[in-house]
Amino acid sequence: MSATSPLRVLAVANQKGGVGKTTTTINLGTALAAIGEKVLILDIDPQGNASTGVGVAENQRHVTSYDILCGRATIAQAGAKTVVPNLSVVPANAELVGLETEMMAEASRPFRLRDAITALLADQRANPAALPYTYLLIDCPPSLNLLTLNALVAAQAVLVPVQCEFFALEGISQLKATIDQIRGTLNPGLEIQGVVLTMHDARTQLSKEVAAEVRNFFGAKVYETMIPRNVRIAEAPSHGKPIMLYDYDSPGSQAYIKLAHEIIERERRLRAA
Ligand SMILES: Nc1ncnc2c1ncn2[C@@H]1O[C@H](COP(=O)(O)OP(=O)(O)O)[C@@H](O)[C@H]1O
Ligand SMILES: [Mg+2]
Repeated sequence: MSATSPLRVLAVANQKGGVGKTTTTINLGTALAAIGEKVLILDIDPQGNASTGVGVAENQRHVTSYDILCGRATIAQAGAKTVVPNLSVVPANAELVGLETEMMAEASRPFRLRDAITALLADQRANPAALPYTYLLIDCPPSLNLLTLNALVAAQAVLVPVQCEFFALEGISQLKATIDQIRGTLNPGLEIQGVVLTMHDARTQLSKEVAAEVRNFFGAKVYETMIPRNVRIAEAPSHGKPIMLYDYDSPGSQAYIKLAHEIIERERRLRAA
């Protein structure tokens, strides 16, 4: 996807599990939708947590990201409405687990998602009356597997959540190396949009130290906004709601709204450059 594309495609990736990828995808998607963007979440984690978190239960996942990656459906057909206005989702389920082995012999396998997004853009150009998506957020699984590779090949930029915990930077050099490698080969335009510090606890020395360490490593790529550790954020998915619908005034909700503004501002500067 080129930098001037009307659709921004961001992969939310970190091969470490439990760092806040899904939480960030859901709540950033919601905040972007609330400030006027038209957002599509593409869930490519077989666990399907992002789908659950925006209110699409397992028995409602009729067309999934598996169908997209197999070429059985288009993204335009697959986007399902969520509990949030202007936020759609292509849900995921456990069918995705088998994809890697099923595609073993196919040379096209890293490009499946990129090609599907190219088709979406063509579809959006052909149907300007249907409001086009402006942001596509891809919720990646906790692994640098074929699914994540598809996301990194299809995306214009990566958003990396880093948890304010011990070993925060563990695996980060591997992720950076993977991004560099993909930039050098399959997707020359790929960049890191930014790094978001998650589950930050302002009262602890550890959170302060990790935040400083991550800022030292990634410099200006790290967003000013940090997502606080907030139990309301953890509760929201069990109600099938993003935090903004579950508890709008909570610190977690307000932080994701701030982050959405910061990301849009950064996008504006990137495009102006
Ligand atoms: N800011 C936060 N405050 C409290 N709990 C959080 C926060 N962000 C994420 N969590 C919880 O941490 C766990 C892991 O988050 P998740 O977004 O699923 O990570 P990942 O997708 O990277 O595996 C989940 O149970 C989630 O509810
Ligand atoms: Mg996840």
